[in-house]
Amino acid sequence: MATPTMDKVEAAGAASDHLITVTLRIRRFNPEVSADSTWQDFQLEMDPKERVLDALHKIKWELDGTLTFRRSCAHGICGSDAMRINGRNRLACKTLIKDIGPEKPITVEAIKGLTVLKDLVVDMDPFFQAFRDVMPFLVTTGNEPTRERYQSAEDRERFDDTTKCILCAACTSSCPVFWNDGQYFGPAAIVNAHRFIFDSRDEAGEQRLEILNDRDGVWRCRTTFNCTDACPRGIEVTKAIQEVKRALITRRY
Ligand code: SF4
Ligand code: FES
Repeated sequence: MATPTMDKVEAAGAASDHLITVTLRIRRFNPEVSADSTWQDFQLEMDPKERVLDALHKIKWELDGTLTFRRSCAHGICGSDAMRINGRNRLACKTLIKDIGPEKPITVEAIKGLTVLKDLVVDMDPFFQAFRDVMPFLVTTGNEPTRERYQSAEDRERFDDTTKCILCAACTSSCPVFWNDGQYFGPAAIVNAHRFIFDSRDEAGEQRLEILNDRDGVWRCRTTFNCTDACPRGIEVTKAIQEVKRALITRRY
């Protein structure tokens, strides 16, 4: 095995100078062991510029392989690692330790409103069912065009914000209406309906609006703005919901 050069040894020493001791307080749940969840503390040496996801990896790989959480891309694209960190919905891969008060224990728990399966993993089926229910795909009639479907830059702009959704569920699981009644479609489904209702090429806007006119639809929104605050993509979720409500009243979109 090659011997590390002095430069590398010094670089490793300099890096460890930046390490701080961090306590991650994780709400653990394993239905095979107990019907109740319990908090468990883990002490770690971390660079403050690392992310909460790095801390979770460190625990899983070095301290406790049973810790269960979802993640895939690790770069804010796949939406799989939304969790409650210090009481607020965030993506673990986009949350730097230095930004969330590492001098106190950092709490990490599963998002609310969806059944916890194990530790930080929730059952996403109801969330994705609501998404499927609003028909999140382009609907057109007539013959397939021989050229691309034209859309002006202005028309594209109308739904630009809602194309950014990564289906992380941070918005829906931060919504008090959803906590109280899991039947509510929830902000993410409405955002994805908005993306097609306001697409000038789509022909199923009326159908989607009728779906959201349901008792569990858009009218359940109480405009608390939790969803907008929670969205890691910066989508103006509450505004999108308001635009769908307005379209339902005016039937103009
Ligand atoms: S609207 Fe934002 S918070 Fe909600 S699912 Fe999409 S990306 Fe996540
Ligand atoms: S792991 Fe993909 S968004 Fe965080």
